[in-house]
Amino acid sequence: MLYIANWKMQLPFTNELLWCFNNRDELEQLCQQATIVICPSTLAIAPLAATLHDIKLLHIGAQNCSEFSAGAYTGQISANSLAQAGCTYCIVGHSECRSYFGETNDIISNKIVRLLEHDIVPIICVGESAAQHEQQRTMDVLRTQLAPIFTVINNLTTPPANLCIAYEPIWAIGTGKIPTFEHLSMIFSWLQETCQQHLPSTKVDLIYGGSVQEGNIGMLKEIPHIGGFLIGGASTDFQKFKKLVS
Ligand code: PGA
Repeated sequence: MLYIANWKMQLPFTNELLWCFNNRDELEQLCQQATIVICPSTLAIAPLAATLHDIKLLHIGAQNCSEFSAGAYTGQISANSLAQAGCTYCIVGHSECRSYFGETNDIISNKIVRLLEHDIVPIICVGESAAQHEQQRTMDVLRTQLAPIFTVINNLTTPPANLCIAYEPIWAIGTGKIPTFEHLSMIFSWLQETCQQHLPSTKVDLIYGGSVQEGNIGMLKEIPHIGGFLIGGASTDFQKFKKLVS
């Protein structure tokens, strides 16, 4: 199983370092049970990657990257720099970036190509809003979000070895609400089939995100085809995160 900690902008820099350094031994033990990806702020990527590189199955990820390779893009960070800093995964298309920073499906597709150019595994977030969920439009939303991504990937000369797709219903993020077992079983079976059809040569890890907590992870782990979790709030506290992984 893959456990991805998305710290967003919740922890100041020194707390990010302390989360890892104060719990280093336990973190090393956790990595014997699962693959862990920590996505801190951009600033913390290099020091964490440098200090934790010897822990097997521990990866440092970024929370976003530029859609451009290099150039006059003030405030942006390139996939090339992320790779040089030791980053091996990167979240793209998170609903917060789609809604607050105007990221479109085309921008997200460009980011995925930039990441793959530098052997960084994209963690591609998709998911519907509360209104779309009520109108039972989840599948249409996912189809629209995934179609341009499948197109750019299929236009690459070499298909990527590995990708992650995170199904994160927007209404479940940070709310304590999660979809039903039936809804998730249906979505993940569909995602599995769709990825086999459109990305036959790529190993796609399908993960769930949105209010993953101690009280619901047992049920979530029972859902066929869920290969991991994208964890926001509960990952900022090491002991809570440890309980989810153990
Ligand atoms: P949450 O966030 O676990 O706090 O709901 C998940 C995410 O946004 O990736």
